[in-house]
Amino acid sequence: MESHFVVPRRLRDKPYELIEAANDWHYAMMNDLPRNEFYRSALRQLITPESFVLEIGAGSGLLSIIAASLGARRVVAIEANMHLANVARQIIHANGYGDRIHIINKMSTDVSPEELAQYGGRPTLLLSEILGTLLLGESALHYVADARRRLLGPGGAVVRRTKNPSPLALSGGPTSQRQGISLDYFNSLQDTTSMVFTKQYGFRFSSAAYTELAPRTPVLAIDFSADEVGVWGGESRTTLRATRAGTVHAVMASWEVYAGEADALCMATHPDATLGNFPRDMQWGQGLQLIEDTSVDGAKPVPFVVQEGELLTLVTRYSVDGVTLQFELLRGASSEE
Ligand SMILES: C[S@@+](CC[C@H](N)C(=O)[O-])C[C@H]1O[C@@H](n2cnc3c(N)ncnc32)[C@H](O)[C@@H]1O
Repeated sequence: MESHFVVPRRLRDKPYELIEAANDWHYAMMNDLPRNEFYRSALRQLITPESFVLEIGAGSGLLSIIAASLGARRVVAIEANMHLANVARQIIHANGYGDRIHIINKMSTDVSPEELAQYGGRPTLLLSEILGTLLLGESALHYVADARRRLLGPGGAVVRRTKNPSPLALSGGPTSQRQGISLDYFNSLQDTTSMVFTKQYGFRFSSAAYTELAPRTPVLAIDFSADEVGVWGGESRTTLRATRAGTVHAVMASWEVYAGEADALCMATHPDATLGNFPRDMQWGQGLQLIEDTSVDGAKPVPFVVQEGELLTLVTRYSVDGVTLQFELLRGASSEE
C-alpha cells in the first residue's frame, strides 16, 4: 500500500498473502452457494455418526464444518497454507466445532496414517474441493489418489467426475482494427497452443454470444475413487461431426462432477450451468483454446472453416503431470477410437 493510503487497524498485522487469498478467490468460491449445497447434499448421503472425515484443503473450514454439522464423529482437515490453517481453526472454534474438527497444517502428502490414528483410527470418508478450471489443474488426482492409498480406511468414499470440452465458434474474431488503426501484425503472435481461462479474459460464456459447431463431447472421465495418476495417458482422439458450417475459433473445456446415490448430484462448469451463478464463473469459468488450421502454414493463424456434416478429429494432449492439456483440431474422422 502507498504510505498515504488508509489501512484499517485490523488489517495492519495480517500477512498480505492471506488477505490476497481471502479476497481474490475465497469469496467467489464460498459465494457459489450451489457448490456448497452440492457438497452438503453429497455428505448428507454418506455421513453417519461413525464417520471419520478427512478433508484435503480446508481453506476457511467451510466443508469440514458442514461435515461435522451433519453428524460426523470426527473431522480432520489438512491445509497447507499456514495462514489459512489458522483462519480455519478460528472459524471452526467460533462455530462450536473445536472438539470435533482438527486442522493439520501440512501438505496432505506429508501427513502419515500414524498422525491421523491419534484422532480415532482410519478416516472413512475423503472430502476435497481442490478442483481447477481444467479439473486436475491443482493436482487434484495426485492428492486424492495419494490420500486414498495411504490414509483412507477400507471402503472409504470419494466423489467422481467427468470433463467435457465443447468445440464452438466465438462470435468475435482475432484483433484486426481498433479505431481505424490496423493491428493485424499482432495476430502473428496469437497463441493457439495454450489453454487460457475465460476469467483471465474477463468474459462469461454464460452471457456471451457464441455458436456451438459440434455437440459437447467427453474426452476424459476420472473416477477419483479408483483411478491412478497418469490415467489420462499422452493423448486421445475423438471424432466430431460439425452440426453447422462456420469458423471454429476455439475449443471450450468444462467439466461435471457427480456424487450421491446413482450419481443424482451434479455440479458442472458448462456455460448453461454457470448461467445465473456469477461466483462460479469468477472462480472456475471454462478453459478455452484458440484454434487455427495447422494444415496450412501462415504468417497469421489460418481460420479453421468447417462445412455442415464435416467429420473432424479432436486431439487432446495431456501434460505428463496431468495439470494442463492442449487441443488440436484435424480434418477427417479419427482412426484410433
Ligand atoms: C479451493 S480451496 C477449498 C477450500 C474449502 N475446502 C472450501 O471448499 O471452501 C483449496 C484449499 O486447499 C489447499 N490445498 C490444496 N491442495 C492441498 C494439499 N495437497 N494439502 C493441503 N492443502 C491443500 C489450498 O491451500 C486451499 O486453501
